[in-house]
Amino acid sequence: MFGSKQKNNSTAEATSRLEDFDYLNPKSIYLDSACQSLRPKSVCAALQEYYTKYNACGGRVKYDWGQKVDEAIDEARGAVLRLLHLSSKDYVTSFTLNTTYGINLLLQQLPQGFYKRVITSDIEHNSVFLPTMTLATRLGVERIVLSRTPTGELTYSSDQLEKAIVVVNSTSNIDGRKLSSIKELVRDAHERGGIVIIDAAQTMAHNHEMLIGCAADAICFSAHKMYAPSLGVIVCRKSLLRSLDYQIVGGGMVSNVTENNFKLASEDPASQLEPGLQAFGEIIAFSQALKWLDEIRPFGEDRSKYINSLGNELFEGLKSLPDVNVINAGPTSVVSLYSSKMDAHRLAIFLSSGGIMARSGYFCCHYYLREKLNLPPLLRFSIGLNNTHQDITTTINTVEKLMRSA
Ligand SMILES: Cc1ncc(COP(=O)(O)O)c(C=O)c1O
Repeated sequence: MFGSKQKNNSTAEATSRLEDFDYLNPKSIYLDSACQSLRPKSVCAALQEYYTKYNACGGRVKYDWGQKVDEAIDEARGAVLRLLHLSSKDYVTSFTLNTTYGINLLLQQLPQGFYKRVITSDIEHNSVFLPTMTLATRLGVERIVLSRTPTGELTYSSDQLEKAIVVVNSTSNIDGRKLSSIKELVRDAHERGGIVIIDAAQTMAHNHEMLIGCAADAICFSAHKMYAPSLGVIVCRKSLLRSLDYQIVGGGMVSNVTENNFKLASEDPASQLEPGLQAFGEIIAFSQALKWLDEIRPFGEDRSKYINSLGNELFEGLKSLPDVNVINAGPTSVVSLYSSKMDAHRLAIFLSSGGIMARSGYFCCHYYLREKLNLPPLLRFSIGLNNTHQDITTTINTVEKLMRSA
């Protein structure tokens, strides 16, 4: 059913859509990739191939299908480490439901008695903001919410990092602002006996390079924001894994069980964050998405350059419109705005009637947007490789028309 022949699309017009997404109605403009990206046909094909050709469980099965699954899962774990230039000597890749679940799996199993405080920032998604609250309560330590500058940097003192658990995003889902000083943050935290866990949900699709060499203790992200099926990924330092006080346990992670005890499978550390059967088809299709991302050159262009050029056009176009307040400090692939002329939810509904899919609300960042900045619900456009220059022009023109008619 699915299958992608074309990788480079260099001959296509810049206004036409990449063939990988040609299943999309030509009149539809999908601008919600920060939530989940569309899946290229080759990723859908990989998922379908697993379900129809070798639908076995991994890690336990001796028949051929199971062997093939084991090889493919190992390949996926290795591909993630290679992408981030990490060694399997020090790190493992585990799979889970999503970024939220990955962060919770780590935080809720950190041991009592060692850490002095939990540190996060004001512009975090609820998937960081909330579990850092429950973590601080469980450990009986203070929780500090640091501010981030308009360009994304975290302001802290080195004393605050003393035995601290720092959990922050590397890219915001509101306006794409980045924590470009991650390396320095991790270095400073390690010097004071702290650890750093990065929420990279908005980084991995288009900016994973910023995490290379950052030496974080864990990096959590969602494959569904990377052109892959719904899946969470945890990249974790083996030393952090060894320190966890395992509470979320079950099949597939033990080497022995006695009446009142169990022994974790130390020869397979990645399994320690994977209790129960995993989403094997999704993991295999995620591997395909990584290959696709590595090879794709939209219309012959570098893919980051392509995304950046669409982001620039969207930012500049929306910013120039009267009655529109763009909240971004600069252009990124995620642009959010509000208007005193029309509520964001109404705007989203009107845009939808023109085939434009954008999001409205607080995007799970209630504290920052509603409580701290006292902003009304926002309208958010987020760009993916399915988008074209024409999509951006149509979107800007449609917002302009809506503003004029309001
Ligand atoms: C920055 C950020 N962190 C975490 C998440 C949570 O991701 P998921 O819902 O896949 O767990 C999101 C989702 O939009 C996000 O944008």
